[in-house]
Amino acid sequence: MKINHLLPVLTLLAVAHPATAADFKKDVFPILSRKCAECHSTAKKTKGDFAIDRQEDLEKQVKAGEPQKSSILITVALPDDDEDVMPPKGKNRLTAAEMGVLKAWITEGASFDASAAPAAAPAAAPAAGAMATWTNNAGKSLQASFEGMDGTDRVLLKAADGTVYTYPMADLSPESQEAAKKAAGGQ
Ligand code: HEC
Repeated sequence: MKINHLLPVLTLLAVAHPATAADFKKDVFPILSRKCAECHSTAKKTKGDFAIDRQEDLEKQVKAGEPQKSSILITVALPDDDEDVMPPKGKNRLTAAEMGVLKAWITEGASFDASAAPAAAPAAAPAAGAMATWTNNAGKSLQASFEGMDGTDRVLLKAADGTVYTYPMADLSPESQEAAKKAAGGQ
């Protein structure tokens, strides 16, 4: 069995399986702040009685899972000269990338909760040898099976190609740390 010290492997695998989840606070709100806050925030103005920092206002503009029926996405995608386009008059329009983030967030359920983790850690202790999704503190994920512990602070994870990585427990997400502890206890 080949034991490697895990370098940027989690990062590489994460590129192969991109975590696309858009987080409201981290990804969506900054866009709305840049493009809408000047006319739509409780601290400044609430034109059309809409404020980006009132969740109930936003909820009325989105239909979770259905970006094509979400008025917020429809209005920001209107042509520059449409009288309903937001921001108005074609100024400071959302870029295609920003619309993409908004669309991804709505498609994924338009959650306002902090980071609905893209790859949930296994809820139950993964059986030794069974593939599970592991996440690290940076939110990257790795499909691997639990192979055991190296001491108490390193986890041995075996990727699909059979390579075994020694991963520092402290660098795993809290959920994955818990799963590793459960799996280790069950051995
Ligand atoms: C320069 C000011 C300005 C900016 C920036 C702006 N808006 Fe507006 N918005 C308005 C005005 C004025 C109204 C109300 C008049 C109207 O309904 O046409 C309005 C109305 C709205 C409404 C209420 C529409 C309704 O009647 O239900 C929504 C939703 C909205 N804007 C979303 C946005 C979003 C999202 C952004 C950012 C992408 C944005 N606006 C940026 C000026 C702005």
